[in-house]
Amino acid sequence: MSASKSNARVSVPALRARKGGEPIVCLTAYTAPVARLLDPHVDLLLVGDSLGMVIYGFDSTLPVTLDMMIAHGAAVTRGSERACVVVDLPFGSYQESPQAAFRASARVMAETGAQAVKLEGGLEMAETVAFLTARGIPVMGHVGLTPQSVNTLGGYKAVGRDEAAAERIAADARAIAEAGAFSLVIEGTMESLARRITEEVAIPTIGIGGSPACDGQVLVTDDMIGLFGAFQPKFVKRYAELGAAVGEAAASYAAEVRARRFPGPEHCFGVKKAAAAV
Ligand code: KIV
Repeated sequence: MSASKSNARVSVPALRARKGGEPIVCLTAYTAPVARLLDPHVDLLLVGDSLGMVIYGFDSTLPVTLDMMIAHGAAVTRGSERACVVVDLPFGSYQESPQAAFRASARVMAETGAQAVKLEGGLEMAETVAFLTARGIPVMGHVGLTPQSVNTLGGYKAVGRDEAAAERIAADARAIAEAGAFSLVIEGTMESLARRITEEVAIPTIGIGGSPACDGQVLVTDDMIGLFGAFQPKFVKRYAELGAAVGEAAASYAAEVRARRFPGPEHCFGVKKAAAAV
């Protein structure tokens, strides 16, 4: 990537400065062509480990590896030039120690050209967030419903419903913000709690099943365009039905191949224009 391409991107400090200002627009991207389509419209492209479920068909994000995240992160930076690119640290690559997190993050930063990493967790990850940020790695936090903890949580359901749970999530958010994260995803929790966290922390919050009061919003792109149909969380709004369009295109193609209507003469080499017209 050239220096000029990198300098044209929305920077981490610019996003950090958006607290309380114009909402931050974020979508996930996993491939270069999709990154290219989204780039003019968003501030932030998140290479989420949701790719394990959305692209690879796993039933959780746990099998996603660091190498997978690096391959997709590099594709997204190649496909974009304006948005800030943030890459998820996958399960197992950072929880063990701040040093393990640094090694994984350094590979992500060096091999993808991303501007930051994202990791899940609260109080227990605060030391790691401080360790990374002190060493030049910007970190986005992620609290509330943290999909890498699906086995502890017992499923993908909204969290923070009772007062004690809400207090724990608010404390998690404060710990991650105070440790030096530049922004914080709040996923799958009560609207009032996401609103309260947004008021309490000094960094921008990015909601997904959070609150319209968050400083920004993120959706999984494949959910948003109707390409991922395995399940649809309550917080997803479909802005297109590309899944249905893909199915219709495949059905038309199959019918034309079976009827020998595709390929037509215009799709064949060595067929004269006049012949192609008849
Ligand atoms: O992995 C992901 O796509 C995410 C978003 C849902 C925030 O973490």
